[in-house]
Amino acid sequence: MAKGFAVLNPMNDFTAFRAAVLRFADDGTALHETDGLLVVSTNDVGRCVVHAVGDYCVLIGQYANLPVQHFPNHLIAPGFVDMHIHYPQTDVIGSPADGLLPWLENYTFPHEARFADEAYAASVADFFLDELLRNGVTTALTFGTSHPQSVHAFMRAAQARGLRMMAGKSLQDRNSPDGVRDQTEQSLIDTETLIRQWHGKDRLGYAITPRFAPSCSDAQMHGAGELAARYPDVWIQSHVAENKDEIAWAAQLYPKARSYLQVYADFGLLRPRAVYAHCIHIDADDRALLRDTGTAAAVCPTSNLFLGSGFFDFAAARQSGFLHGLASDVGGGTSFSPFHTMRAAYCAGREGQTKPGISLSPQKLWWQHTAGAAAALGLGGVVGNLLPGSEADFVVLNPQATPLLARKTEAANSLDEWLFAFIMLADDRAVVKTVVAGEARD
Ligand code: GUN
Ligand code: ZN
Repeated sequence: MAKGFAVLNPMNDFTAFRAAVLRFADDGTALHETDGLLVVSTNDVGRCVVHAVGDYCVLIGQYANLPVQHFPNHLIAPGFVDMHIHYPQTDVIGSPADGLLPWLENYTFPHEARFADEAYAASVADFFLDELLRNGVTTALTFGTSHPQSVHAFMRAAQARGLRMMAGKSLQDRNSPDGVRDQTEQSLIDTETLIRQWHGKDRLGYAITPRFAPSCSDAQMHGAGELAARYPDVWIQSHVAENKDEIAWAAQLYPKARSYLQVYADFGLLRPRAVYAHCIHIDADDRALLRDTGTAAAVCPTSNLFLGSGFFDFAAARQSGFLHGLASDVGGGTSFSPFHTMRAAYCAGREGQTKPGISLSPQKLWWQHTAGAAAALGLGGVVGNLLPGSEADFVVLNPQATPLLARKTEAANSLDEWLFAFIMLADDRAVVKTVVAGEARD
């Protein structure tokens, strides 16, 4: 068990929280109460969900006898959702390299080889999950390594914390060094065993995880596609079109495919709940393919900046209408903090645009790391928002966490300015509580 669990309501019935509240309408616009009330309760399948949310003065009459935890001058907001991260790369953060391929070869693969040791994997999983929670992230889709025991260790740690998390064993039977290369047939058997053991258990989900097309043989990709068809509500996660050298390599390995993304389509690996990290160097046909198959892109701005990979084109994504949201991509990414990711997305959003102009709005950035990310993962209405019926995972944020944040939030003239101050200036110091299924984890 992680440290610091505090059961807020031993009756496991109704609990109320009072503070400013941020949530999102279906179109991604922010709904904001300056003095709000959030009431959570246990539903008929035993899960802690949002029972009611709204203006304090309007709602309190109906909940007059309920003990209320009051956080004056704080903000309650949905727990953040990280669409793409690598828990085994927690200690790879900040490893400098010329670009993606040397970074994988010199730092990432040698480090991931250590996850053959399940005790080591368990210790990293514990640190990783505590770090996510400290930063206000309550749901993530994460890679394991190629070792099935890396997934067992992660799932056990997430289950002990009652978290909604998805993970998968990386498939990589070629172009990978000893220590991380797996065997085609065994890798597919292991994947199916992990699906049966973990997918749908408590709040956990499995993700079929071909690392990227260059690391998977045709037979392994074909097997992954078969599993994806047999288990349609299991996630799929991979990487695509991140780096120019990687793309040239994929084109050499798959000369008949129209594009790198098409390789995955040809193996049946594009569908709802399939999530592709990066999607930087893609064209209009690829965007249409993402949209038409219900596939999502995980945008990883700190990673793209750190590894010099390029800039995701948010305007083209919006125009095409495919699902996309924000992700840290730790350890290519440089921070667990959703504020850092949103900040980098704002800056990268300027650079990636074909026409110069203002980047994403603060509401849009926040939505893409909460309700929008959840919707892109096929978890709309489940997490990432605070609408009645959704699971009670949320954060309590302090606008006065640092002198500069206090000064800037105090001077804000609108909700957009206030949220933008958080995005530009906040970090883990602003996260005073992370609440998972109605229980505070501090
Ligand atoms: N492509 C294949 N593997 C990886 C990885 O671990 N990180 C990133 N950023 N890209 C990849
Ligand atoms: Zn990645």
